[in-house]
Amino acid sequence: MKPSDLLLLAFIALALGGFSPLMVKAEDPYRFFTWTVTYGKISPLGAPQQGILINGQFPGPTIDCVTNDNIVVNVVNQLDEPILITWNGVQQRKNSWQDGVLGTNCPILPNTNWTYKFQAKDQIGSYTYFLSTVLHRAAGGFGALNINQRSVISIPYPAPAGEFTLLAGDWYKASHKGLRRILDYGKNLPLPNGLLINGASSGVTFTGQQGKTYKFRVSNVGIVTSINFRIQGHTLSLIEVEGAHTQQELYESLDVHVGQSVTVLVTLNQAVKDYYVVISSRFTKPVLTATAILRYQGSNTPASLPLPAGPTYQVHWSMKQARTIRLNLTANAARPNPQGSYHYKLIPVARTIILANSPVQINGKLRYAVNGISYIDPETPLKLADYFNISSVFTLNSIKDSPSSGQPATLGTSVISTTLHDFVEIVFQNNEKYVQSWHLDGSSFYAVGYGPGQWNQDMRKRYNMDDAIVRHTVQVYPLSWSAILVSLDNKGMWNLRSAIWTRRYLGQQLYVRVWNDELSPYTENDIPPNALLCGKAKRS
Ligand SMILES: *[C@@H]1O[C@H](CO)[C@@H](O)[C@H](O)[C@H]1NC(C)=O
Ligand SMILES: *[C@@H]1O[C@H](CO)[C@@H](O)[C@H](O)[C@H]1NC(C)=O
Ligand SMILES: *[C@@H]1O[C@H](CO)[C@@H](O)[C@H](O)[C@H]1NC(C)=O
Repeated sequence: MKPSDLLLLAFIALALGGFSPLMVKAEDPYRFFTWTVTYGKISPLGAPQQGILINGQFPGPTIDCVTNDNIVVNVVNQLDEPILITWNGVQQRKNSWQDGVLGTNCPILPNTNWTYKFQAKDQIGSYTYFLSTVLHRAAGGFGALNINQRSVISIPYPAPAGEFTLLAGDWYKASHKGLRRILDYGKNLPLPNGLLINGASSGVTFTGQQGKTYKFRVSNVGIVTSINFRIQGHTLSLIEVEGAHTQQELYESLDVHVGQSVTVLVTLNQAVKDYYVVISSRFTKPVLTATAILRYQGSNTPASLPLPAGPTYQVHWSMKQARTIRLNLTANAARPNPQGSYHYKLIPVARTIILANSPVQINGKLRYAVNGISYIDPETPLKLADYFNISSVFTLNSIKDSPSSGQPATLGTSVISTTLHDFVEIVFQNNEKYVQSWHLDGSSFYAVGYGPGQWNQDMRKRYNMDDAIVRHTVQVYPLSWSAILVSLDNKGMWNLRSAIWTRRYLGQQLYVRVWNDELSPYTENDIPPNALLCGKAKRS
């Protein structure tokens, strides 16, 4: 344990009258859900198409819970394909058993069910969940997961009069199987057909009272497209990004990349009428747009054109904005301690890993590789291979810590081996002309730097080493790099992936194994009694 952790524990113990929260697991409330996943007809862009519904809903039901709640979700798969649900940004402390990706779990087969059980441990903020298998997410099966603060925790802003959840992102008219065929054939997908907010390209209405302030939780649940979010005539006060309270800057509009979430406060300080809520695509030609309506209660006046303009191709604008998103060091996080009490600049970096994405041709087909390896899922989940000591599923450090040029790309199962509590610097080097979005399961990280061109050690001088934002998904601009620092304090097998789903499907992902040799419930939960077994882990 680091001295800073000890201090933190002492502080919490004091704050709670000498009662350590580590002892009070049993009191945290349970929330039970049964979710039936089916196909169903939806018409988000006008024409009917087959969607993936959860309990008949598209988007899926919202989970509203409180920090440390135990969430139990019995997922009934009535599709014709195996599925898994992942909880994007839920850290699953010591519990990668519940992460819901093919590296940690056997899939839930058609006409069977499986029950997830996890805790929203020490987290607060706006998150999402979605089907992680193949391209299911392109047809639905996603929703919001909102974690509210416990009543004893003060938040760094006045309580809003209400809140709205916006699931925003791109959309294709083709079915998820049709999209998959294109990728399997070796081609990339065309531009999406449109954008959606909560399952519609226009008309979804959020109603509030003049003079009051509302919380908007905005997540990009799309497949490939970065978006810009704005509200006609109103400014956005950014309060939280993926579980961390930000310094509350005002924005005309905010970029939200695939897989990311932001939470803003909006004060209804204009005349009583309707206003456009707008999302538009970034870095695409043509620019795609979707709208919703912010209605002041009592309004009889429809929203008026033109739509507020937003940035379209400008990369520099977005990079500048990204640097303004900073952690509020004095605000509480999920626990009653200042977020900045952990001074990351004082911690020596144990290892630097540089990950470069690239489009490659393997067997004549388009794939995406990371440091020359295009990931394929083995039949046996990596986590089960570890647990059952099955040595033939993956080899550690088959992927190098930095890209090497010259060698042809190969298919492989990349696993980076790290030691529990390692403090690691990861540089995402993007030598492509397309914006990237990288997500890490299991831990949030400090997004310390963004810059154009090739990263080198001198770039460290440009890092924000004081109040970088903590998040789970970071964008990497075209022909640019982004750097993160992460404390790997969560033992398990964690997916590090492109949040751009076509790229992940075609191999732009890997796993980070956070490990120590101590077999103990203090460092990692035991395998759940209902764990599904498949591949080489299947008992014969
Ligand atoms: C499947 O659902 C039933 C209830 O309908 C439940 O009792 C059972 O535990 C579930 N199975 C798994 C593996 O979660
Ligand atoms: C930071 O959080 C504190 C609460 O601890 C709050 O009073 C302050 O306004 C916040 N600062 C900014 C810039 O958001
Ligand atoms: C795997 O190997 C470890 C270390 O040798 C051992 O303690 C553990 O019991 C083994 N697990 C299984 C499931 O055989």
